[in-house]
Amino acid sequence: MAVLPFALFATLLAASSALGASSRPNVLFLVVDDLRPKLGCYGETNMVTPNIDQLAAKSIRFDRAYVQQAVCSPSRTSFLTGRRPDTTRVFDLVSYFRKVAGNYTTLPQHFKENGYITQSVGKIFHPGSASGKTDDYPYSWTFPAYHAPTKKFTGKKICPEPDGKLTHSAVCPVDLKTVPGGSLPDIQNTDFTIEFLKNRSMDHEPFFVGMGYHRPHLPFAYPKKYLDLYPLSNIHLAPNPYYPPWLPEVAWTAFKELRKYDDIKAMNISYPFGEIPLPYQLKLRQSYSAATTYTDAQVGRVLDALDKFGLADNTIITFLGDHGWQLGEHAEWTKHTNFDIAVRIPMMIHLPGVTAKPATQGKMFPFRDAFKHSLEFQPEAYGTNQSFSRPNLSEKGLSSDALVEAVDFYATIAELAGLDVPSTCPNNSFHVKFCTEGASLVPIIKNLTMTSQDDDVRKRMTWKPAVFSQYPRPSVHPRLFTDDVEEEEDEEEEEGEGSQTSSRGRTPIRIMGYTMRTEEHRYTEWIAYDLKTYTPTWSKVYARELYIYSSDPDEDVNVAKVPAFQDLATSLSQQLRAGWRKALPYPTL
Ligand SMILES: *[C@@H]1O[C@H](CO)[C@@H](O)[C@H](O)[C@H]1NC(C)=O
Ligand SMILES: *[C@@H]1O[C@H](CO)[C@@H](O)[C@H](O)[C@H]1NC(C)=O
Ligand SMILES: *[C@@H]1O[C@H](CO)[C@@H](O)[C@H](O)[C@H]1NC(C)=O
Ligand SMILES: *[C@@H]1O[C@H](CO)[C@@H](O)[C@H](O)[C@H]1NC(C)=O
Ligand SMILES: *[C@@H]1O[C@H](CO)[C@@H](O)[C@H](O)[C@H]1NC(C)=O
Ligand SMILES: *[C@@H]1O[C@H](CO)[C@@H](O)[C@H](O)[C@H]1NC(C)=O
Ligand SMILES: *[C@@H]1O[C@H](CO)[C@@H](O)[C@H](O)[C@H]1NC(C)=O
Repeated sequence: MAVLPFALFATLLAASSALGASSRPNVLFLVVDDLRPKLGCYGETNMVTPNIDQLAAKSIRFDRAYVQQAVCSPSRTSFLTGRRPDTTRVFDLVSYFRKVAGNYTTLPQHFKENGYITQSVGKIFHPGSASGKTDDYPYSWTFPAYHAPTKKFTGKKICPEPDGKLTHSAVCPVDLKTVPGGSLPDIQNTDFTIEFLKNRSMDHEPFFVGMGYHRPHLPFAYPKKYLDLYPLSNIHLAPNPYYPPWLPEVAWTAFKELRKYDDIKAMNISYPFGEIPLPYQLKLRQSYSAATTYTDAQVGRVLDALDKFGLADNTIITFLGDHGWQLGEHAEWTKHTNFDIAVRIPMMIHLPGVTAKPATQGKMFPFRDAFKHSLEFQPEAYGTNQSFSRPNLSEKGLSSDALVEAVDFYATIAELAGLDVPSTCPNNSFHVKFCTEGASLVPIIKNLTMTSQDDDVRKRMTWKPAVFSQYPRPSVHPRLFTDDVEEEEDEEEEEGEGSQTSSRGRTPIRIMGYTMRTEEHRYTEWIAYDLKTYTPTWSKVYARELYIYSSDPDEDVNVAKVPAFQDLATSLSQQLRAGWRKALPYPTL
């Protein structure tokens, strides 16, 4: 592993206090909707993601990073406020933390209040009533949030069928020449961000720009050329495409979000346990990959612009998915569960001069075209079409396998930029504007980048033994499909029509599934929850799950009821109930 000079890092940390405002680091905060770590840089050699791989090679990549709830708004609200869903009281796609919980200072707001220009582009907060119908402007942002003009077509029939008919389908490769508006939201949002960066390069004020990509969220609408990278003959099914034995139904999602699309509806898949036909599972997996490469290209354009406008050497770049995504694993689709595959995300942090050597000739992030034969190609890696870019397996950046959480991001970014770092929230923090329920990742970053004389510090370092997530349910069994007020609403519909959302009301939550991942295990309890008083009742347990990674890495066999594991389950239950506070890496209040 390369050891980089720590002095530069210290300089970066000291920048805001020691030097003038103009040398304060900028922040490019990249968030990708529904992106699980299905990326070349996470070892998925079938994936063509050359730009994100390049960012990873110049960043610290977190290999075991988890969100606090596997659905957009609760997850985003959590990492943007630095607090967990129980404290934001946002478990659905409707509630706004400022209304239901407290007037918390968000991460972009913290930058704004410290003299930064802050801008939201695309999906950073969940739009609509979940962010006060303004994407939390003006609290969080200097300017109103930007949304691409073509966003309004997302819920519309834009997918051409072979007979020319247009549908609103999950699988939706399009021709940019004929698609309404002549473009797609992520392309237009990227254009805006590039113009924003250009403007910033001229006025020299520090900025925080949140760039939120929509794909690979459903519908998989992307320029059809990306399908060429993923011939169906190369696509495989999930290794475990069946309902896990001994899985309590409360743990399962019936993937309503997917069932609403025309192509899926036409298959008459029985509710709630009917399976997507195998050939269509392959098509969905193919399109998830194609939509990911399309997003990779837009990420590449933004990174390339940082170079072009001379901003790369003073900009911290962060990258994260808002939760994972099930592609047929456990016969499930979408997110909305507590499985590892739904809560684990890609997460990386690039610190100029620290996680990568300064660029030669100002080119830190030259754009990489997925379709061009490139130096990255490794014949042994595989791929039938040798003209496509493949991950360069020897091109590795720094990485950490520490158990980390998206809620840790707030304190981390604040510390890296030299702003005040929030301290740990007290038990009841609804009236505390500035505090966090995460922990700064800076000790891990230092541990990776420090030089060898600091070995002593390194040995003494401890980190969290466990990470925590949760997911609510209205009932023990999946409810009728016609029962519309649900936790699994179609997010795209919502994004377009915030007012419709609020009229639907809040999800009738009666159960909360609290889950914990440790080194060796995942342990989950589904317990009674009163939404009126926001009170969990730990004595009323509906179901438990226990997975043992050494023998069951894909969480296929729930052994919570196996007699031999009762002592283990009991001790994990105590650890889960003690919660995140007991798992903090250093003593706190
Ligand atoms: C919320 O806090 C902001 C500053 O952080 C303040 O301007 C605003 O008035 C507060 N709103 C309420 C309703 O307390
Ligand atoms: C860039 O600056 C120009 C000129 O001030 C302005 O018209 C435009 O709206 C700005 N664009 C962005 C994305 O900030
Ligand atoms: C689905 O059901 C509809 C109406 O019951 C029927 O017309 C159609 O043929 C069915 N499609 C398939 C693929 O079974
Ligand atoms: C892969 O990356 C390594 C490290 O950056 C570089 O030295 C090597 O030349 C690259 N290989 C190819 C085939 O591009
Ligand atoms: C490989 O992909 C390129 C670019 O799409 C295409 O032109 C070429 O025909 C493909 N080659 C093979 C062998 O599939
Ligand atoms: C916070 O809550 C925990 C558990 O409910 C309790 O043990 C602890 O004493 C509380 N701390 C304070 C300062 O109230
Ligand atoms: C700190 O670094 C050491 C040596 O590289 C490594 O073994 C250890 O896992 C790291 N600890 C954490 C918590 O990242």
